[in-house]
Amino acid sequence: MINALRGMKDLEGQNAFYYEKIIKVCEEIVKNYGFNLILTPHLELSKLFKRSVGESSDIAQKEMYEFVDKGGHEVCLRPEGTAGIVRSYIEQKSDKTQSVKRWFYHGSMFRYERPQKGRLREFHQFGVESFGTKSVYEDVNMILMLAEIFNRLEIKFELLLNSLGCPVCFPIYRDKFVEFLNSKETLCEDCQKRKELNPIRILDCKNEDCQKLLSDAPVLNSSLCETCKKDFKLLQNSLRDNGIEFQLDAKLVRGLDYYSKTAFEFINDEIGAKSAIAGGGRYDRLIENLGGKKGYGIGFAIGIERLIAILEQKEQKISRSGIYLCALDELYIPKLLKIATKLRKNRKVFLSYEAKKLAKHLSNADSANAQIFLCMGENEEKDNTLFYKNLENKIEKKLLIEALEKEL
Ligand code: HAM
Repeated sequence: MINALRGMKDLEGQNAFYYEKIIKVCEEIVKNYGFNLILTPHLELSKLFKRSVGESSDIAQKEMYEFVDKGGHEVCLRPEGTAGIVRSYIEQKSDKTQSVKRWFYHGSMFRYERPQKGRLREFHQFGVESFGTKSVYEDVNMILMLAEIFNRLEIKFELLLNSLGCPVCFPIYRDKFVEFLNSKETLCEDCQKRKELNPIRILDCKNEDCQKLLSDAPVLNSSLCETCKKDFKLLQNSLRDNGIEFQLDAKLVRGLDYYSKTAFEFINDEIGAKSAIAGGGRYDRLIENLGGKKGYGIGFAIGIERLIAILEQKEQKISRSGIYLCALDELYIPKLLKIATKLRKNRKVFLSYEAKKLAKHLSNADSANAQIFLCMGENEEKDNTLFYKNLENKIEKKLLIEALEKEL
């Protein structure tokens, strides 16, 4: 017996139905905000991610699926979508002209994490990335899109918001923070590494002793420069104006190192402990860090499996759709094939290739979640009709084959 790898799951049945529903809702909403589809490769050079998510991140430290390909290149399965899309923006030379690009994407991401409910090693994200827009109203739009997506899917959320400052104010804060850390005793082993690579990730540490130690640490968003302060205020006022509630969280630094200014996370507690269902923020520095011309970028990604787990609990039923077409005698199947081909021009048809008793066909139609049942027996074959049953409202009748398209 060969099983799927740990932390990797088949998506089918009810979960596949949720997957399609989530993608459909997300696409409809982001297209109305002017976003277009981009699909980038699942495999990229490892250094793309190391340089973008940062050496200090858990992803770069221990979660990448890396290997050397047959050409001797160090490659890895993408752990997230942003880096590949920034690479594409630069490769298209859009950074040179500071072109405005608004892209959305969905697909698999790979992280070698400890699997648990809502945390997989291969999982799916729906995300957007917007380039070339400095205005804070683009940050507002990111959050409005996410709020609309979750409202449409009837998923509750809490929004956490922070500003990580810019290249002017962030280094001043970092120095203050490191000075504070130097005055304290031991940090956990991970945080000692973080102190060298990217000290503010320590704010995010889950270790209780580290958290206690940080209780009187300098606060990130009270060290912002005038421009960052102004933008952060404008963001908050616009969200309030648009009826979006949020909580400021000065310790929200996110698990990836590329953010500056706006950072946000959408949290939900319907599948046990509070977990992030989406996260994102501004990453203006990343374009330059990956070799492009200085520019502007902002985006978010939603964890689709986490939404599926929430929707699963609400037990929405797959709605019935399509026609189940069948016969009581195999001789009638060629006739049915012709009918099916005609109907399939604009309808879903499940055609049964085997003759069965009426009750068995009805039960198969029910399992297939068909809405309409059509069957040909001896009488129907003679008078060119089909037995019709609506599996939703249970209405039964005979339908003339030539009038089928009009009647259905
Ligand atoms: P992230 O916070 O690492 O951000 O991931 C976004 C979302 O993906 C999380 O909020 C969570 O719902 C889901 N997720 C993460 N890891 C797992 C996992 N192991 N299993 C299931 N779901 C998971 C990013 O990936 C950034 N690229 C987002 C972004 C786009 N920032 C700017 N643009």
